[in-house]
Amino acid sequence: MIKRAHFLALGLLAAAVLSASTAHASGSAGRGMELSKPCQACHGADGNGVGDPQYPIIAGQYADYLAHSLKGYRSGERVNVIMQGFASTLSDQDIADLSAYFASQKSKLGDLSKR
Ligand code: HEC
Repeated sequence: MIKRAHFLALGLLAAAVLSASTAHASGSAGRGMELSKPCQACHGADGNGVGDPQYPIIAGQYADYLAHSLKGYRSGERVNVIMQGFASTLSDQDIADLSAYFASQKSKLGDLSKR
């Protein structure tokens, strides 16, 4: 009986840890696409840029890297006047959704390791 209670407690703990981590990491690419309208002027509709090299291509980038960048701008840890303005209004969920959207897009950049 004691053993069974032990397993139950472990199971509940695992479930709690799992749901906490997915709630944190999962972004909705669909909602991200809607939120991306203001970003498109510089990064392009799919994140592949607008042909101007001063605006980085973010299509196909890892979602956690994109989220890290946006949080850096938001906190001021990463300094860029343009991006700090855009990131300052984003919630954690907005950032997760935008990151999921741009990460899901196909990058026009080649794989440098294959050159
Ligand atoms: C007016 C132009 C402009 C708009 C609009 C804009 N960005 Fe940017 N973005 C930039 C520039 C310029 C940089 C490079 C800044 C730097 O050097 O840190 C950048 C950098 C980034 C980066 C970091 C890329 C990397 O490789 O580290 C991300 C992520 C990003 N933008 C996402 C967004 C998102 C999401 C939006 C919309 C909410 C947005 N941007 C709107 C101009 C823009």
